[in-house]
Amino acid sequence: DAPPIHDIHGRPVRDLRISVTDRCNFRCPYCMPKEVFGPGYPFLRDPQLMATDEIVRIAGAFVRLGVEKIRLTGGEPLLRADLPTLIARLKGELGVPDVALTTNGWLLERRLDALREAGLDRVNVSVDSLDPERAGRMNGQGLDSRRVLSAIDAAVAAGLHVKINTVVQRGVNDGEIETMAAYFRERGLPLRFIEFMDVGNTNHWEGSQVVPAQDIVKRVAARWPLDPVGPTYRGEVARRYRYRDGAGEIGLIASITEPFCADCHRARLSADGKLYTCLFTALGWDVLGCLRSGADDAALDHYVGRIWAGRRDRYSDERAEVLASGEARPKAEMSYLGG
Ligand code: GTP
Ligand code: 5AD
Ligand code: SF4
Ligand code: SF4
Repeated sequence: DAPPIHDIHGRPVRDLRISVTDRCNFRCPYCMPKEVFGPGYPFLRDPQLMATDEIVRIAGAFVRLGVEKIRLTGGEPLLRADLPTLIARLKGELGVPDVALTTNGWLLERRLDALREAGLDRVNVSVDSLDPERAGRMNGQGLDSRRVLSAIDAAVAAGLHVKINTVVQRGVNDGEIETMAAYFRERGLPLRFIEFMDVGNTNHWEGSQVVPAQDIVKRVAARWPLDPVGPTYRGEVARRYRYRDGAGEIGLIASITEPFCADCHRARLSADGKLYTCLFTALGWDVLGCLRSGADDAALDHYVGRIWAGRRDRYSDERAEVLASGEARPKAEMSYLGG
């Protein structure tokens, strides 16, 4: 095998996030505000979207470059009908050790059996509030969060490894930090608090809405003592803390206050087959175009490898300077890029 390719900062590619659709059944204001993502929004259409065959071929190039973990995202990935087929092929044909899904959970329960049979290893479910009314506001559609909570219990019962993601916004859901911790502690499920990030161009991000991860840790630890623990895998974005009483763990994804670019081994593929080497870049490399122009596997590997070798992104490390300079850097939307 060829030696692994490292980028300009010496980082290998270990982890590929694939957005399988830019559509979503939620309209979380921090991600897809309704005023922007309304009925006239130009979502991707069929020839623009990668076909499942094309996803498998592109994923194959990344696996040959050293990717061991593939996470399927959206928009909402469960809106894609052939998702189980894709998962089965990533596991079966490419032998990817870790295939995971990030979902809002709305459509999860009815598709659990198919996902499980396809070989899905893990699922991360977003829960921003336990309060049905607040959750309805936070998903922008008034949808009842109890359906998502029930899907989470069903996913655990089906044997999937489940983690919970909560985006914390000051003045919106930060009053629920302890309640959420209590709820998921009882179920032994890792809950990851995510600092609200300045992704995309439409979510009206302001630094004042960010609750620093260390404040969250202090609040949880005041109720249930915590000990820091090391990452589950090199380059894990969440800093982990274990409850001293043995009731599981929480995680903090602190892209704002504790950036983790130095260990970023992550590539992102948009639903129209463009390769983004950072969550905060505006433009991707047209891998799908390369494939559709007739590239064979060797040419595809070469194309992707060259892009990775030239990668220098470290946006979160540079954020403070970028924001202070007032430089308006355009960015891809989170729903398009898959987070
Ligand atoms: P695990 O495999 O379970 O560790 O998943 P993950 O945390 O890598 O993925 P998930 O889709 O659950 O993402 C959780 C949060 O972390 C989301 O808000 C992502 O946007 C954010 N995130 C994931 N990777 C990166 C990254 O490389 N940079 C930044 N800034 N945020 C990231
Ligand atoms: N900041 C932080 N996390 C975000 N997510 C979506 N938008 C943002 C943002 N602006 C989260 C979702 C989901 C994960 C994939 O990304 O809530 O949990
Ligand atoms: Fe909300 Fe996720 Fe949909 Fe964005 S993609 S609107 S965060 S459910
Ligand atoms: Fe990776 Fe970019 Fe996130 Fe830094 S900001 S961790 S380089 S995706």
